[in-house]
Amino acid sequence: MTEKIIIAITGASGVLYAKSLFDFLHKRNSELHLIITKNANTIMMNELGIDEDYFRKGNVSLYENSNINVRIASGSFKFHGMVIIPASMGTIGRIANGYSDDVISRVADVSLKERRRLIIVPRETPVNEIHINNMLILSRAGGVILPASPAFYHKPKDIDDVIKFITSKVLNQLGIENDLIPSYAEDI
Ligand SMILES: Cc1cc2nc3c(=O)[nH]c(=O)nc-3n(C[C@H](O)[C@H](O)[C@H](O)COP(=O)(O)O)c2cc1C
Repeated sequence: MTEKIIIAITGASGVLYAKSLFDFLHKRNSELHLIITKNANTIMMNELGIDEDYFRKGNVSLYENSNINVRIASGSFKFHGMVIIPASMGTIGRIANGYSDDVISRVADVSLKERRRLIIVPRETPVNEIHINNMLILSRAGGVILPASPAFYHKPKDIDDVIKFITSKVLNQLGIENDLIPSYAEDI
C-alpha cells in the first residue's frame, strides 16, 4: 500500500498515540509525511525518551513546521488524509482561526478547503469554552474530532492495548482495515 498520509505531532501529552499510528502505517508501507512541533519534540523526549530521529525511516519525509516553503503546503500536493495526533489546543486554535502560519496549520487548512480527510486527536482535560468552540468550528468545517479517550470494554492488558484503541479508531477514519481491537468492540 502506498497511500500518502500526513501525520502532525504537536505539543500535547500522549506522543505514544502518534508513535503507534506511525508504526502501523510505516509497517504497512504507507508514504508518510511528518511534521513534529518543537513542543512535541520536548514532550516526546520526556514521555518516550525518543527524538525525531526515531521517525527517519524509508518512505518517511520529515518537515520543519516553521518552513512553510514545502511541497506538502501546496493545494496541488494530493494526499489521502492528515492526522494531527496528539493535537494540542494551541494548534487546534490556530487552525480553527485560519492562521496558516506554519506547515501544520497550512496543510490542515488545505485539507479542509480541498475536502480531504482531516482527523484531529485532541488531548486536553478539562476543556474550556474556547477549546470547545474551536473544536466545533473544525468539526463544522469538515474535520473529524476524535478525542484521545480510549475505552476499556475490550479489556486492555497494558498501555499498548489502551493506545491501540485510538490507533484503530484513527485508521477506521482513514478507511484503513485493521484488527487492532477485537471486532465485537469496534462498533461501540
Ligand atoms: C509537558 C507539557 C505537556 C503539555 N500537554 C498538553 C496537552 O496535553 N494538551 C494541550 O493542549 N497542551 C499541552 N501542553 C501545552 C502546549 O505544548 C502548548 O500550548 C504549545 O504552545 C503547543 O504548541 P504546538 O501545538 O505548536 O506544539 C503541554 C505542555 C507541556 C510543556
